[in-house]
This record gives sequence, C-alpha cells and structure tokens, in this order.
Amino acid sequence: MRYDTNRMEKNNLLALVTGASRGIGRAIVLELAKNNYDVAINYNRSEENARKLQEEAKTYGVKAEIFRADVSDYEQVVKLFADVKSTMGAPVSVLVNNAGITRDTLLMRMKPEDWHAVINTNLNAAFFCTREAIRDMAKARYGRIINIASVVGLTGNAGQANYSASKAGIIGLTKSTAREYAERGITANAIAPGFIATDMTEILKPEVKDGILHTIPVKRMGQPEDVANAVIFFAKDTSSYITGQVLAVDGGMTMC
Ligand code: NAI
Repeated sequence: MRYDTNRMEKNNLLALVTGASRGIGRAIVLELAKNNYDVAINYNRSEENARKLQEEAKTYGVKAEIFRADVSDYEQVVKLFADVKSTMGAPVSVLVNNAGITRDTLLMRMKPEDWHAVINTNLNAAFFCTREAIRDMAKARYGRIINIASVVGLTGNAGQANYSASKAGIIGLTKSTAREYAERGITANAIAPGFIATDMTEILKPEVKDGILHTIPVKRMGQPEDVANAVIFFAKDTSSYITGQVLAVDGGMTMC
C-alpha cells in the first residue's frame, strides 16, 4: 500500500498474476488480495473460474478484475497490459509470471510441437510480460517481478526436457532482469516449487506420486498457499534488498 503524498490517500499497489484461474495462481491472487494488493487476474480458458476468483478476491476489499489472454502470444500480451492499465487505472507494480503447462514424455518421443508449446507458455510468456511491465515499473522506479520456476529447472528431470529447460530459462531471465533493473528499484526473483497439490500434479500416476513423496524430507506435498506465501514475501516493500534469487518451496526436496 502506498500513500499519495499530495492527497494523503492510500493507494493499493496493482498486481497482475498470469494463468491465475486455478491452482497456484489462484492461491497467489487470494494471498495478494488479503495483503491489500489490487489484483488483475489473467486467465486463458475458464472464465467461470476466473469470475469466482474475482468475487472471492473482492471480499478482501480490493479491486479485482479478470482479463482473458493467451500469454504465449505477444500481441495478446501487449493488449493485456493496455487493458489492465485502462481498466484498473494504474500500471502493474507486481508481476507474477505463473502460467505454465507440461507436455511430459521421454526425449526421444518428444515431438517438436511438445517442445515449442512448453517453451512458448512457460518461458516466452514470462519474457513478453516482463517486457511489457518493465517500462512503467522503471518510470515509477518501483517494481516486483516474481517468476514461478520449478525445482526441475535446477535439477533436470527425466521425461521433462522441455519443461526443465523452460524453468531453467526462466531462472536465467530472472537473474538478467534483476541485474538490468536493480538500480531502478525493480527486483526480480524466482520461486522454485517442488511437488505441489494442483491439477497439474493430480494427473500423475499414484506410483509416481509415491515415488516423489519419498524424496521430500517433510513427507508431504506442498499446498498452493505454500507458494503464495513466498510470493508475498518477494512482493513486499521490505524485500527491496533481495533480487536475482531462486527460492525453493519444496519441503527440502532439493537443497541446492
Ligand atoms: P495448473 O495447471 O493448475 O495452472 C496453470 C494455469 O496456467 C492454468 O490456469 C492454465 O489455464 C494457465 N495457462 C496455461 N497456459 C496459459 C496461457 N498460454 N495463457 C494464460 N494462462 C495459461 O498448474 P499449477 O500447478 O497451478 O502451476 C502453476 C505454475 O507453477 C506453473 O508455472 C507450473 O509450472 C509451476 N509449478 C507447479 C508445480 C506443481 O507441483 N504443481 C511444481 C513446480 C512449478
């Protein structure tokens, strides 16, 4: 929350979360709203879910609007940022690049289209949104960019060459953004979730889930709220001296 020094009115900062209608993105929107951020909710497919989330976010007394856009398409991203600014009357101060997909299969079976789809959604979209957000952030000399990576971006994973590469890429993007914009009051950090209970992991076979659970020291799957809490930490004013970092939210799974 910021004070307009001329009018001494409290202004909430505006946060945009991509791919927010369910799972981790949904939890991030609610946690931001609870912490007095106005929220721009980007979704791609389910308008019904996005509307429900909008209503829930509004119960915290903040502004909440929904914006349909496929963030892997640069032109749609340009329009998204223009729409957010005109509808919400403020530029984006906190950007959470959360939208992501998987197309898992072993390398030899991975089709080029599986590769491109994952890189487009998980990595290119984060670049497009960062590019569109950064000008206003630099002008305001304030910004928080929080990229949702993954522990497999640090460790790699069999059957996820495309996904791991996209998440390793997002870590490189985060660090470069952090270095380029540190002097302008903009921080860029990445969160590397481990094994979080969402629709994305729901599709895994029980034996695969059991195998992963054995590798987690805290012996449970994470919840979307575990990731959302880390987002709030990076979003706050008090994190201004932390940039270019990768925070694993993984129950101790990686520790690297
Ligand atoms: P999810 O599948 O429930 O949510 C992903 C969201 O992104 C969906 O709402 C989907 O509609 C949206 N999306 C996909 N493509 C889009 C596009 N082109 N434009 C706009 N929105 C799009 O998955 P979950 O688990 O909530 O994942 C959120 C993020 O966390 C992803 O980046 C994922 O890679 C990452 N993550 C998840 C982990 C997990 O264990 N669930 C572990 C590590 C990272």
